[in-house]
Amino acid sequence: MKKIVCISGSPIKDSNTDRMLKNIGENTGLEYELIKLSNWVVRPCLACKACVTTNKCVQNDDFQEISELILGAEAVIFGAYTPYGMIDAFSKALFERLWSMRHINGLNSGKYAITVVTSLNRDVAEQVNREIAMEMVMEGFILLDQLVINGSVPCLSCGYGEDCKNSFARMQVGEKGSVSEASCFDVENQSVFERGAKLGKLLGDYLKDDQLFDREGHQKNIAGMMEKMMPVMDKGIRQWREEELASVNRDTKNS
Ligand SMILES: Cc1cc2nc3c(=O)[nH]c(=O)nc-3n(C[C@H](O)[C@H](O)[C@H](O)COP(=O)(O)O)c2cc1C
Repeated sequence: MKKIVCISGSPIKDSNTDRMLKNIGENTGLEYELIKLSNWVVRPCLACKACVTTNKCVQNDDFQEISELILGAEAVIFGAYTPYGMIDAFSKALFERLWSMRHINGLNSGKYAITVVTSLNRDVAEQVNREIAMEMVMEGFILLDQLVINGSVPCLSCGYGEDCKNSFARMQVGEKGSVSEASCFDVENQSVFERGAKLGKLLGDYLKDDQLFDREGHQKNIAGMMEKMMPVMDKGIRQWREEELASVNRDTKNS
């Protein structure tokens, strides 16, 4: 059975990030699992290089199990958020540990990935998405799309956001807006939610199509993947995929 693994770096219970990942996962129509990193223990990479010939990290923590789940999945949906305008530490530690799977054998090469970043600031989210994209490319994932969600500042729901002199809530609701949980942004009310659902459906249709999906020869099927996924792809990624497709076509012609 083909599987999807969704990995959330958001520690907030049933957060926007979690709900978006579930939305994508559910819409694939495939079996999917949500890993909430705050419930697992994944330390950062120690750069000990013990994994170089084994592709297995020697640190004895939950990455051992998570890496097995990633290995068994056809696609991974990563969700991060941006405390202090940076990628969250749960996601960062996991991304560092993926290094163990890379040496020589590139265990994640050819695996599909989608990334979701939740932030108050679109520029920050796009920057974090670009940084993750760089890692995705280095690890050999086939990046299908990157989504951005508008998040809510925690000061809206802490109970002191109205009066606290250090509150960021005003930034979000303006001088006249009320500071309460009711002013938080829900991902379900953002147009990106519909896009996530579509993306999940297309990914599921693609993965279920045995004519197009071939783990070993995925590069040969890139045209089929493009046809299925292009309608929802981000413009930048579409351009990137078009260039990739052109180069595959050139290579095929020349061989
Ligand atoms: C400690 C902390 C610091 C934060 N700092 C920022 C920030 O600097 N910039 C930003 O865009 N969002 C910041 N946020 C807000 C998160 O991006 C926001 O809470 C987001 O909605 C969390 O995603 P979630 O709803 O999926 O949990 C911060 C959140 C926390 C908990």
